[in-house]
Amino acid sequence: MSILEGEGVTKYFGGLAAVSDVDFHVDQSEIVGLIGPNGAGKTTLFNTISAAIAPRPGVIRFKGKRITGLKPYQVCRMGIARTFQSVKVFNNMPVFENVRLGSFFGTATRMSSAESAKEAEELLDFVGLSAMNTTLAGDLTLVNQKRLEVARALATKPELLLIDELMAGLNNTEVAQAMKLVTSIRDKGITIFMIEHVMKAIMGVCDRIMVLHHGVKIAEGTPQQVATSQTVVEVYLGE
Ligand SMILES: Nc1ncnc2c1ncn2[C@@H]1O[C@H](COP(=O)(O)OP(=O)(O)O)[C@@H](O)[C@H]1O
Ligand SMILES: [Mg+2]
Repeated sequence: MSILEGEGVTKYFGGLAAVSDVDFHVDQSEIVGLIGPNGAGKTTLFNTISAAIAPRPGVIRFKGKRITGLKPYQVCRMGIARTFQSVKVFNNMPVFENVRLGSFFGTATRMSSAESAKEAEELLDFVGLSAMNTTLAGDLTLVNQKRLEVARALATKPELLLIDELMAGLNNTEVAQAMKLVTSIRDKGITIFMIEHVMKAIMGVCDRIMVLHHGVKIAEGTPQQVATSQTVVEVYLGE
């Protein structure tokens, strides 16, 4: 069953169709990859799902309910969390407090201070940051800021997690760790829709991959199908 569905999703910036008439779906417990050259519209598509921007025209449904027109915090409380391509952590706040913000503001149910603290501790351990609880987020390396964003997103108790370029700039060891993190998030029962440029990673963790080019969905299939698609190969070689 699809947890997320989009129909005819379109977003213009002036005369430019950043996302053009895209139909998509993500099934429960799937890891779906979204790839495409820079400027293909991947982040814009995520922005329409998280309600940072409204598609026009187009409709997006989460668990069968229309979410188009809702506010970002409403969509988050319904169970969709995200990370950002350009990290948005609170630099002057300790790592621990950054994660707690997710549970205070992003969940549908109220949580006690003790509960949120326990949860933040568990999540920081889960993403491998427990040794940096008290570090200011702004003092973390980029890799660790990305991990922190994952922890904060998970603190909102999502059913669907949108990950925008978690692995950019990571070395091989870090990519392997990030791949493990993604699969262990799915093993918690969370569905994942991820944008990634690191091909080894996307091919290794995704059940299905969608390809955008100039805002248009040009291919979709298993990693194997996408990797051997003539259209996809041409788009990447032509870059
Ligand atoms: N807020 C914005 N205002 C104007 N143009 C934008 C804005 N956001 C993205 N774009 C343009 O939309 C296109 C798609 O961008 P983006 O979704 O960020 O691509 P990707 O994430 O695939 O690299 C690009 O041409 C980009 O310059
Ligand atoms: Mg992007």
